[in-house]
Amino acid sequence: MQNSNVQVQAFLDNDSETFTYVVYEKTGGFGVVIDPVLDFDAKSGRTSTDGAEKVLGFIKSANLQVPWILETHAHADHLSAAPFLRNALNAKIGIGSKITEVQKTFKAIFNLEKEFLPNGSHFDALFEDGDEFEVGSLRFKVVHTPGHTPADLTYVVNGSAMFVGDTLFMPDVGTARCDFPGGSAHILYRSIKTLLNYSADTQIYICHDYPPEGREHEFVTTVAEQRSNNKHVRDKITEAEFVNMREERDATLAMPKLILPAIQVNIRAGKMPPAEENGTVYLKIPIDQL
Ligand SMILES: [Fe+2]
Repeated sequence: MQNSNVQVQAFLDNDSETFTYVVYEKTGGFGVVIDPVLDFDAKSGRTSTDGAEKVLGFIKSANLQVPWILETHAHADHLSAAPFLRNALNAKIGIGSKITEVQKTFKAIFNLEKEFLPNGSHFDALFEDGDEFEVGSLRFKVVHTPGHTPADLTYVVNGSAMFVGDTLFMPDVGTARCDFPGGSAHILYRSIKTLLNYSADTQIYICHDYPPEGREHEFVTTVAEQRSNNKHVRDKITEAEFVNMREERDATLAMPKLILPAIQVNIRAGKMPPAEENGTVYLKIPIDQL
């Protein structure tokens, strides 16, 4: 898919319905990976890089140089494959600076080892709202879009394509939940309005799609489509209406099936916790005792 010199290749992880993107300038040029997925079978504790290897295969076949792996946020529904791709591509991992708040919250919830410092040092770069950087001829602008979590970022490329993480979904699916720690429906509404102020033809690439019966997975829409059709936040819906809808709906949602493993790994930039004395890595399940 082409958009004013922004080329986009999408990869769907069927288990979590996540889209990973390779955003690049041209064959033989520079690019980035956004939100890579590590395959994880919670029943056996087994990980695999099958999905990430497909991304890597594309990068090799298009002969791309990839200096950045970009995360939109600490995902709760899949484990990140960023460390695998960092090693394979000699790349750096970037995320929003507010990840430190997420690390602090979950360090307490999981009673992590004292050596785990919630200072963002697990990542190579912590982006602030308004930061800009270049990757070849691609100009990236960082927009802080909290609400789903405190650390969510949107990456705007060449002013014409935005990668919104879990801020917006396809118009018939709506928006992401806001009931995780530090989430806020009020704040999500305002973040979305910032994005929907971009010009009408700006392309919006989403991180997940949960298509209704009879529709295939889709991953790209526009500001104009969202403003006229998004079932949760189209133009005429007020902040108060949105917040009521979002909070009522969130109260009915089950936790994502991989939230406990995913968060423990993703706040370490996709690295596993340290192995125990027997050389094995364990993930924790905090139990809510009666
Ligand atoms: Fe998410």
